Amino acid sequence: APGHTKRDLLSLHNLTIAEFSALLDLAEDVKQHPESFRGLLAGRTLALIFEKPSLRTRVTFEVGMVQLGGHPIYLAPADIALGKREAVKDVARNLARWVDAVTVRTFAHHILEEMAAEANIPIINALSDLLHPLQAMADLLTLRELKGGLRGLRLAYVGDGNNVANALAQAAAKTGMHLTIASPRGYEPAASVFMQARADALPSGAQISVVQEPADAVTGADAVYTDVWTSMGQELEARDRQKRFAGYQVNAVLMALARPDAVFMHCLPAHRGDEVTDEVLDGPRSVVLEQAENRLHVAKAVLLALMGYPRN
Ligand code: CP
Ligand code: NVA
Repeated sequence: APGHTKRDLLSLHNLTIAEFSALLDLAEDVKQHPESFRGLLAGRTLALIFEKPSLRTRVTFEVGMVQLGGHPIYLAPADIALGKREAVKDVARNLARWVDAVTVRTFAHHILEEMAAEANIPIINALSDLLHPLQAMADLLTLRELKGGLRGLRLAYVGDGNNVANALAQAAAKTGMHLTIASPRGYEPAASVFMQARADALPSGAQISVVQEPADAVTGADAVYTDVWTSMGQELEARDRQKRFAGYQVNAVLMALARPDAVFMHCLPAHRGDEVTDEVLDGPRSVVLEQAENRLHVAKAVLLALMGYPRN
């Protein structure tokens, strides 16, 4: 309706510090008291456009929507051929006539921005080449639960400065958690996102930095995070990346540099034996399944927040 201002979730940069922490609070509430939220999205429909594969993101949004009483519609890459069978703006304008929100997993981030501009319903970033906001939210919820708070905590990210690293930098900036990213030269986080995150971090006190040596990031860290060396869409670079990232594996030797109570994190899927050893991924410090579980609670919180709960 005219005058109605809808919200999207494309980038954590667009949330205030208060909004970010309120979303984590809501996710925690949803996790502790799922029954209080049952049915709140009855009659609502969510479309899920995926241009890349997914286990966690697809399942958590579909399950989350069902638990809230709504209905998800999964649209596989071949179903709508976004931008090929039909222009992005036409897909967005049509969906806005039928459904209440759309989650989109795509390549170029600007496709999400175009959909958000064309559709007067919430558009949710389910991963782009640039950002993965739902993942970073679930990760910070996990750390907040395990460590009792985020301010002053030290997170080390080892490996590719990719969509997950970018989103973690944005999330750290909103919470006062420190983040050191260790990446080989040429594979650092996106300069635009990184500079923006450092500016966003001024009020929260988060220190966000990039180094090259994994040991420099991990020494004394409260948590050690890694992700695949080759992200979806970069398959042609896989051989080259395998060489460039050879010294960036998270293994028992590297983990020993972190604090004795440090946890290991990974957004998954993992390429076992590349960026992380089986020993670390399956070891007692690994919290990867807590992260994966929290994707569900965060998805439900985002759906509730964007589709009108609490009503105001
Ligand atoms: N972590 C994550 O987004 O997993 P999927 O690619 O399986 O959705
Ligand atoms: N960086 C990875 C994350 C997958 C959840 C990718 O984009 O493939």
